[in-house]
Amino acid sequence: MKDGLVSAHGGELLNLIVDRKEAAELKKASKNWLSWDLSQHQICDLELLLNGSFSPLTGYLLHKDYESVCSYMRLSDNTIWPIPIILDVTEDFAIKVKNDQKVALRDPEGVMIAVLTIQDIWKPNHDNEAEVIYTNGENKQPGVEDLLKNKDTYYLGGSIKGIQLPEHYDFHTLRFTPQEVRSNISRLGWNRVTGYQPIKIMHRAQYELTRKVIEKLNANLLMQPLVGIIKPGDNNHFTRIRCYQALLPHYPKATAILSLLPLVRRLPQSREILLKAIISKNYGCRDLIVEFSSPSKVIDEMADKWSDELGIRLLPCPNMVYMEKENTFIPKTEIPEGRISSTITENELKERIYSGKSIPEWFTFTEIENELKRSYPPRKKQGFTVFFTGLSGSGKSTIARALMSRFMEIGGRPVTLLDGDIVRKNLSSELGFSREHRNINIRRIGFVASKITKNGGIAICAPIAPYDSIRKDVRAMMTSLGGFFLVHVATPLKVCEARDRKGLYAKAKAGLIKEFTGISDPYELPDDAELTIDTAILTTQEAMQKIVAHIASEGYLDV
Ligand code: PPS
Repeated sequence: MKDGLVSAHGGELLNLIVDRKEAAELKKASKNWLSWDLSQHQICDLELLLNGSFSPLTGYLLHKDYESVCSYMRLSDNTIWPIPIILDVTEDFAIKVKNDQKVALRDPEGVMIAVLTIQDIWKPNHDNEAEVIYTNGENKQPGVEDLLKNKDTYYLGGSIKGIQLPEHYDFHTLRFTPQEVRSNISRLGWNRVTGYQPIKIMHRAQYELTRKVIEKLNANLLMQPLVGIIKPGDNNHFTRIRCYQALLPHYPKATAILSLLPLVRRLPQSREILLKAIISKNYGCRDLIVEFSSPSKVIDEMADKWSDELGIRLLPCPNMVYMEKENTFIPKTEIPEGRISSTITENELKERIYSGKSIPEWFTFTEIENELKRSYPPRKKQGFTVFFTGLSGSGKSTIARALMSRFMEIGGRPVTLLDGDIVRKNLSSELGFSREHRNINIRRIGFVASKITKNGGIAICAPIAPYDSIRKDVRAMMTSLGGFFLVHVATPLKVCEARDRKGLYAKAKAGLIKEFTGISDPYELPDDAELTIDTAILTTQEAMQKIVAHIASEGYLDV
């Protein structure tokens, strides 16, 4: 132990990035090498290998180490290692390479991040790995799902030379290597560092927990939020990190620092805790806070069993809960009998934010509340999509036009009408009416509507959209972007046929138009419509009012 910091796992903190000269030579030599395009998951693993977070690994596990990790949670030299870190590739790629061959590992833009010298190629037993690593094959865990989805992959093991760390454009200044954090800690003169790796936004309960632990241990806090695999434009990710930044100044001056950790969660609970502990140790931590919501024998036993040998203490800590009468937080396990704590669930919190209600002071800090409100404006300020579906001639376009006028009368948001006919002329002019083409058409409409919704506007879509699964896909596109209202214009086929404004039913019946919805092509009734409207019963005005009233009752309109 130097400067109060624990030594790296295995003794030496590694940095697999080679110097500039060697990097230039490797790039030059790489012209004829095969390249492997890294997935997001693989980029995260590679970054942790390159920057030494996974010390003592000098590359991807060899076959014997893989087997040993699966069976004993140890490398073949007996060093504790809980989860296989390998490069999984397709069979096509695996049959093209052999041992001692060099492969260029590239990011999605084609930039060479590292060179792998292959030392082992094997086809793993995925089922066995799922069973032993992911606790008896519980399929719900993300790690198992990923593993069993890709059962035809091969594994490559071998040493790695890094050319550069993967590029991050978000929160660049919060990303540090273990060496950088260690230098920072030394500069701050800290003697003891305790790690905490949150996956959710931290409110007062988590603040109280971490603060109490560091006070008790006379330690300082290294907060390392997990940020593995971020989808482009993932608002939650950005909000979460801004909330950590907002929390930091609440700790006593210079007692807490923030460093993002691009670790992909695998979720075999105990093995993942060990991996996190190893990473924390490599960043210089002497302890790692392991938060739990219900007492867990497994975690307690793990802490007892592994802490000494690992060289970092696992600190199982129960969630903190708020006791209103005493105006204080206490560990969940210490709630006096007969008393209940105050809580706000994630859903309640969301509902409060979306409906513009305030959040109690005991629950979170004002700065975090403000951050959440900035990211998740109340429904009144969010965009939404009204998606009509129904037979040709059912009245969709007429109600859609009336609705558009009403929304413009109300004002406050730009309104865009994506009517079936208009879209077919402008966006989907090359498409016909096969199932495939209709699905492409609806996906395009959904895509445009999702952008409008995301940017706070109102999209009114009025295609036939006869197929259920694509309608559900469109709904999914709107998740967390704003509101979505599916309106089924359920005017009976007989009424639509009798109206036959465009004369299309007559032509379809005479066989002049093929694949006509309701006549020679199916219309799948929705089972998830927010509203059902029959224009044989309601006038256009009544239908429009019914829709406006529903949207207002959901909090999206002030009428
Ligand atoms: S879909 O299924 O949602 O992609 O259809 P959509 O883009 O709304 O286009 C429907 C309009 O196209 C005309 N039309 C047909 N409809 C259904 N089936 C066939 N085969 C067909 N051929 C042309 C019809 O005028 C539809 O307009 P509306 O306004 O619904 O009557």
